[in-house]
This record gives sequence, structure tokens and C-alpha cells, in this order.
Amino acid sequence: MHELNKSDDYSLLLKQVVALIDSEPDRLANMANIASFIYHMIPDLNWSGFYLLKGEDLVLGPFNGLPACTRIPMGKGVCGTSAAFKQVLNVENVHNFEGHIACDSASNSELVVPMIYQNKVIGVLDIDSPVLDRFDIKLEEFAIQVVNELIKRWD
Ligand code: SME
Repeated sequence: MHELNKSDDYSLLLKQVVALIDSEPDRLANMANIASFIYHMIPDLNWSGFYLLKGEDLVLGPFNGLPACTRIPMGKGVCGTSAAFKQVLNVENVHNFEGHIACDSASNSELVVPMIYQNKVIGVLDIDSPVLDRFDIKLEEFAIQVVNELIKRWD
């Protein structure tokens, strides 16, 4: 019998994320819990967290994982590129991404979801994995939904 892999049940994980943030209006607290939740509930990750746009730079926000670069200029690295183009970037192999910023040499694949509020980029959710091509479409959609739920409550 096929055993349900809990980590693949993204609809359940999304409900848990909503339960975590629904009654708390503080964005920082919610981003902190989301970063921790993703890091601990999704297997094979080495970093999960937020960068928030301040001026022309993305500045490190709540995260789980090793200490990371604190400031990424708009348009630089995977995060800055995602933010500049307002596009989700699912990078199968970061070593083939020109300009990738290596904060943790263990990272091999990376998923970045831009946070768009009132048509403007306000930051990104960044998730790193030591596994090549870690982020399948289901995991990508889950990360997009998580950002949607956070932004819905941004006011
Ligand atoms: N690799 C990212 C930098 C942030 S760390 O992965 C946490 C980038 O290229 O933008």
C-alpha cells in the first residue's frame, strides 16, 4: 500500500501555515514562523527565509539555517533577479545560474518567490536545498501559496 508521505501532502501543510499566521497580525512573527515551518517540515532543505526590500537592497529577514548574506542588491543573485523581474525562480542547479550568491556552499538548488504587495515587490521568500532539482511543481506551488497567504494579511 502506498504510504502517504506527510511532506508531500502540501494541502495539509498549507492549512498548518494558515493556522500559524491567521490569528497573529505581526508580520515579523508570521515570517519567522513560516521560515521555521518550511525548514522543519519540508525534507532536504538547508535554508529557508525572507529578504525584505529596503531602498534598493533586499535585506535579510527571519530565516532558519546557517547565517546568510545580509544584503542583496536588486537584480543580483537569484533573489535579486526574482525581485527585479517579479518572477518565481526555480533553479535546478545554482552552479549554472550566473551571478548566484553562495551563502552556504551546501546549496545546490534554490526556489525564490517574490512577495508582491499592491503591485510592488516588498521582498522574497528564499528556500535552498543541498539536493539538485529539489523543487518540483507541487513544492513550488506550495511556496507560492504560502507567500499569498502571508501577503493577504500584510495590511
Ligand atoms: N543564493 C541567494 C542568496 C541568498 S542565500 O541563498 C540564503 C542568491 O543567489 O540570491
